[in-house]
Amino acid sequence: MALKQDLAGRLGKHGQEHLLQFWDDLDEDGRELLAKEIESIDFEQLDRLIAELVRGGGEAPEVAADRVLPIDVVRMPQTDGERAARRRATEAGEEALAAGEVGVVLVAGGSGTRLGFAGPKGTFPIGPVSSASLFQIHAEKLVALGRRHGKQPPLYVMTSPENHETTVEFFEKHDRFGLDHVRFFVQGRMPAVDLETGKILLAGRDRLAMSPDGHGGTLAALAGPGDAGCEPSCLAEMGDRGVRTLFYFQVDNALVEIADPTFIGLHRQAQAEMSFKVVEKMAPDEKVGVVVLVDDRPQVIEYSDLPKALAEKRGDDGQLAYWAGSIAIHAFETAFVERLVGGLKLPFHRAIKKVPFLAPDGRTVQPAEPNAVKFEQFIFDALPASERFVIVETDRAVEFEPLKNAVGPDSPATVHQRMSDLFGGWLEQAGAVVPRRSDGTVPFAIEISPLFALDAHELKSRIEPGLVVERPIYLR
Ligand code: UTP
Repeated sequence: MALKQDLAGRLGKHGQEHLLQFWDDLDEDGRELLAKEIESIDFEQLDRLIAELVRGGGEAPEVAADRVLPIDVVRMPQTDGERAARRRATEAGEEALAAGEVGVVLVAGGSGTRLGFAGPKGTFPIGPVSSASLFQIHAEKLVALGRRHGKQPPLYVMTSPENHETTVEFFEKHDRFGLDHVRFFVQGRMPAVDLETGKILLAGRDRLAMSPDGHGGTLAALAGPGDAGCEPSCLAEMGDRGVRTLFYFQVDNALVEIADPTFIGLHRQAQAEMSFKVVEKMAPDEKVGVVVLVDDRPQVIEYSDLPKALAEKRGDDGQLAYWAGSIAIHAFETAFVERLVGGLKLPFHRAIKKVPFLAPDGRTVQPAEPNAVKFEQFIFDALPASERFVIVETDRAVEFEPLKNAVGPDSPATVHQRMSDLFGGWLEQAGAVVPRRSDGTVPFAIEISPLFALDAHELKSRIEPGLVVERPIYLR
């Protein structure tokens, strides 16, 4: 009883006492579970978020257009001088890889609601011929990098409490895909609240509706206890191993060039703390955040918050003035992450979602319309805190096709096509003949395992020129 009264007193101060409405029906275990979940919540912080992002409407105030300027980007090399500079950067990145100073952070804690796949998104069979999972493809790139540079970068995989166990089991089942060193760390959670009232939703009689705290949760989670409480934290372990630079990417992009030495080299040559890869936005209304300067500080403005006049503005050459679309590929210095977790708090954003919940009559409701606000931090909000940064352009055809949806854009079908087109191009560069449709796409599935070749250059040494590709092919 004392526990119930204690909890009721705390919850009452924050208008959340309804969380105890089924308390009397619960057994000891259920009460313990519920009490633990309630105690894990920072109610002062939650009150502020509800006031600002639920009751306050939650729309970020649009930045005044006169405070925003385009940011300098290291563009794709056009001249011999630029190509030579890129080569020097590549060498610097290769040296860092060979010295074992590069670690890789893969964030895979998202719920993958749009894809609607039963399992962590990283386990989705995305290989167009092999049906290899996203995790397998990423892991094979690391194994191949290790062969090439003599040191395999350690991999740190962020999971969420919901998918941690399944993710770890998947890696174990596949003998960790031959990785030398992989660690899993769990991100934090935030409660989901009712869109109208700001009340925390119950997922069950003894459980709150909790969801991962966004990819911005990576920073705090890296410094927290790693695999189910094992010491040291991932961040501390990186320090012990001599890892200084982190390559960060998200699980859903099968094309990502993991630990790309040129990007790492550009980042290190500039002594940057955080760096971004960007692609040219295809249209003013494309839904990607753009990297800009606001009051002379670097920042990402989400597509929905970029003033329309700026989104549509074009230079004399006809190119969008604010074109640098972030593709969620970053480099970080570990020292920067340490500095951030010691002080900076990333802001929370709101995401309006359909969240099933327990109604007061004890029935579970599956809402047909979005009914809840989730609170998420975004990794790109760390950028304004970096003293030095580099923004590097890459080619989206080569490096960006995320798996988000079950059908339509950014779906398995588009990822398969993009992978096949990319690998078809590698084969052509290696002297093979690959059929193309009139729009330039290849007419059947082509896949190259990273263990066979990590790039077009390597593929050249692995196949006979004159190879004619006439049917689906998987090179492994
Ligand atoms: P998205 O924001 O696209 O979310 O995450 P999602 O979970 O993949 O899909 P939806 O929105 O529920 O349909 C982009 C990347 O960030 C990771 C995801 O795993 C994905 O790699 N992420 C996202 C996390 O690791 N944690 C989070 O809390 C959110």
